[in-house]
Amino acid sequence: MKLSVIGCGYLGAVHAAAMASIGHEVVGIDVDERKIESLSNGRSPFFEPGLPEILTSGVESGNLRFTTDMAEAKGARVHFVGVGTPQQKDGYAADLTYVNAAVDALLPYLSPGDIVAGKSTVPVGTAADLAPRIEATGATLVWNPEFLREGFAVQDTIDPDRLVVGVPGPSTGLGTGDEGSGPSTGSGTGATGDEDRGERAAEILREVYHPAVAKGTPFIVTDLATAELVKVSANAFLATKISFINAMAEIAETVGADVTQLADAIGHDARIGRRFLGAGIGFGGGCLPKDIRAFAARAEELGRGESVSFLREVDAINLRRRERAVHLVVDGLGGNVVGKKVTVLGAAFKPHSDDIRDSPALDVAVRLKGLGADVTVTDPEAIENARRAHPQLTYVDDRDDALRDADAVVLVTEWDEYRREISPEHAASLVAGTIIIDGRNCLDPAAWRAAGWIYYGLGRP
Ligand code: UGA
Repeated sequence: MKLSVIGCGYLGAVHAAAMASIGHEVVGIDVDERKIESLSNGRSPFFEPGLPEILTSGVESGNLRFTTDMAEAKGARVHFVGVGTPQQKDGYAADLTYVNAAVDALLPYLSPGDIVAGKSTVPVGTAADLAPRIEATGATLVWNPEFLREGFAVQDTIDPDRLVVGVPGPSTGLGTGDEGSGPSTGSGTGATGDEDRGERAAEILREVYHPAVAKGTPFIVTDLATAELVKVSANAFLATKISFINAMAEIAETVGADVTQLADAIGHDARIGRRFLGAGIGFGGGCLPKDIRAFAARAEELGRGESVSFLREVDAINLRRRERAVHLVVDGLGGNVVGKKVTVLGAAFKPHSDDIRDSPALDVAVRLKGLGADVTVTDPEAIENARRAHPQLTYVDDRDDALRDADAVVLVTEWDEYRREISPEHAASLVAGTIIIDGRNCLDPAAWRAAGWIYYGLGRP
């Protein structure tokens, strides 16, 4: 099938390449010329395992091309919109400038029968707002949220654990802004017409995702508002799970309990599950933090602020854990870090990524620098991005060089290079002071202590 993908960031570039890899003919479109040039040459503009391989094979096969020219979207059967929805500069709500601009730019090239499939994470009600413009061209708007994790993005796109498609129906829900919460059809084509179009659109999306559908991946067809909400509520749930265990870490710290054992113990209950119960310096990245804030802001607009007011607490717990890690370093160094050399292991917001957006790791590094420490940061993939954002920090590629003469070491991104590959004995021979703060609770305290280190975890005695 001929597909276009508007927006070639993390989401769009991976989606375009993944769709080409399962046999579609794909054009990726973005306004950023450098990104398009790099992708056209089969080079990923960011670190994502497996992406370079499918980019190269797609471009070489002729199934995949990239352009800045929106006119090339013409003729595609489905147009995926995967542009960014960052946090607004002066508030918590999502900035929809790029979504609106992408849709407006696409409108002249839509033909009757085309599908526009929104993939960006948006406040509920956005699709209902966009629908009339798209439907005026004879095309149909569906919402098809994306659940990929950075670091596993290719696998998650080709073989997702579920597919969700919101289609027009008799009650596609809400508009944004002041229109209140009354139901609206959003289209004017009438309930039955909408239902038929919805079914046809879902059928086409089933064809797009044929390998996953054939292997029985759950394919959930719903209305537009539900599809939008599925995405934000999934991320809100994940963020809440992390902050829950980090709240337990705060209590554990007070009473001398061990949050990692607590997580293991409650995680054995299948209803709870151990995943996303990793206590530490908390969540960051381009999604979870801004998505919970945008959700809370949207709920306020809808007059339902209290329904998700706990998300403010989730955010607050999360940010407190970064402070706690800084506090442990200061404490470990006797109450004053001025002029002390602190080595920070990790800059990316999580391993397998070079993404530093809202990275807890870098936040800890920057705060320590602000307190007067002499901070050296190392990371297997994210140094270039970190240096651009925070040139005031010192960056060192080689791990041993970074550790040399450190007064304290803080592990903030749990790369295998740090959690498995550092020998505590070898590290002890390099540093000036054997103090380690394990911001991800991923080291074996007994092994580090045996090698002479003073070990601090988060929520551990
Ligand atoms: C997240 C979701 O997991 C994806 O399903 C979603 O599609 C994506 O956002 C998105 O909206 O695009 P991602 O941002 O790649 O994916 O990262 P996660 O793997 O969710 O990790 C988020 C943060 O939580 C990281 O900083 C990680 O270190 C932290 N985390 C994760 C913890 O602190 N503890 C845990 O137990 C797990």
